[in-house]
Amino acid sequence: MGTEHKETILEVKNLKTHFFSGKKVIKAVDGVDFDVKRGETLGIVGESGSGKSITSLSIMRLIAEPPGKIVDGEINFKGKNLLSETEEGMRQMRGNKISMIFQEPMTSLNPVYSVGEQIAEAFRIHQKLPKKEAWQRAVEMLRLVGIPSPEKRAKQEPHELSGGMRQRVMIAMALACKPELLIADEPTTALDVTIQAQILDLLKNLQEQLGTAVIMITHDMGVVSETCDRVAVMYCGKIVEHTDVDSLFENPKHPYTQGLLRSIPAVDRDVEELEAIPGTVPSPDNLPKGCSFAPRCPFATDLCRTEEPDLLIDNDDKVRCWMYSERWNGPAAKEVAADVSHANAN
Ligand SMILES: Nc1ncnc2c1ncn2[C@@H]1O[C@H](COP(=O)(O)OP(=O)(O)O)[C@@H](O)[C@H]1O
Ligand SMILES: [Mg+2]
Repeated sequence: MGTEHKETILEVKNLKTHFFSGKKVIKAVDGVDFDVKRGETLGIVGESGSGKSITSLSIMRLIAEPPGKIVDGEINFKGKNLLSETEEGMRQMRGNKISMIFQEPMTSLNPVYSVGEQIAEAFRIHQKLPKKEAWQRAVEMLRLVGIPSPEKRAKQEPHELSGGMRQRVMIAMALACKPELLIADEPTTALDVTIQAQILDLLKNLQEQLGTAVIMITHDMGVVSETCDRVAVMYCGKIVEHTDVDSLFENPKHPYTQGLLRSIPAVDRDVEELEAIPGTVPSPDNLPKGCSFAPRCPFATDLCRTEEPDLLIDNDDKVRCWMYSERWNGPAAKEVAADVSHANAN
C-alpha cells in the first residue's frame, strides 16, 4: 500500500521517557522520532526491553510519574501536542480517538463485569448513547470481530472466554468508537500460532474497513512481514533503522536488523538453523559506551565502541550505524545482508 501521499496523523519527535530510581536514570526511551499516516500500519520491532511498550504508554500518557517522566519531545496527534493536553483531555481521547490493545487481555478487562457491559461503556462514555442502545452496539461489535452467538457471549464475564475470544473482545472494545489510531502492543504474543493468524487477519480487515492507522508493536519479524507498511527497529531506547517493510526484508542495513531477520523461522529452515543474536540486551541503566549494539555486533570497530552513531537519513530511510558513514573503515556488512535476503526470499 502506498502511504506517501497520506496525511500524517501522529508525529513523535525526540521522545525521551526516563525512569528515576535513587541516583539511577533509566533512559527507557531516549530520543525517538517517527510518524504514522492515516490508515497505515507502522511496526515497532525489537527484542524485549528495547523500549517499545514505554513508547506506546508515553503516547497514551499512561507513564506513572514517579518513577517515570517524559523529559523531552513532542507527541503531535493531528497537529496537537498530547504532552500539553490535560488529564481530562487525555481521558476523552483514550478509547475514543486513540485506542490501545495489550498482550494480556485479562489485565485490561474488568473480571467482574460482562464483556458486553465493558464494550457498551465505551459507547456510553464517548458517544453518550443510552444504555439499551449501547448494549446493542456492543453486541454488534462482538459480531463484527467474529464472536459466535454474540448476544449470549456479551452476557459472559472475561474468565468464561478463551484467550483468543478475550483478545477479540479487546479488539471490539478498542475499535468500538472507530479510533483514528490503534496501538497494538504485542496483541498476539500470548496466543497460539493459528489463533494469532486469525487475530492478525481480523485486525487487518477491520483496519481496512475503518481506515484506522495502527502502530503494531512486536518482537516478531513474522508479524511485521504480515502486517506492516513501514517499520521502526528499536534497540536500547533508540530507533536504529526505519524503512518500508520491503526494504527491511530485502536490504536490512543495521546489523541488529540483520540479526533479527536471521532468527525468523522460515518454512524451509530447521529450528536448529535459527541463529539468535549472540549476547543479551544491555541493562538500560548501564549502557555500553559508543553504539549500544557494539558488544553484540559482528562488525564493531573501535569507532563503534567509543562514539555513538547518529541516525543517518537517506530520503525516507534511516539507519543508526557507523558502517554507512564516511568515517567507516571496517568490513562491510553487504555479504551478510545478501545472505539474509536470500534466506528470506526462499
Ligand atoms: N517502571 C519502570 N521502572 C524502571 N524502569 C522501567 C520501568 N518500566 C520499564 N522500564 C525500563 O524500560 C526498558 C524498556 O521497557 P519496555 O518499553 O517495556 O520494553 P519492551 O516493550 O520493548 O520489551 C526496560 O528495559 C526497563 O528496564
Ligand atoms: Mg513490551
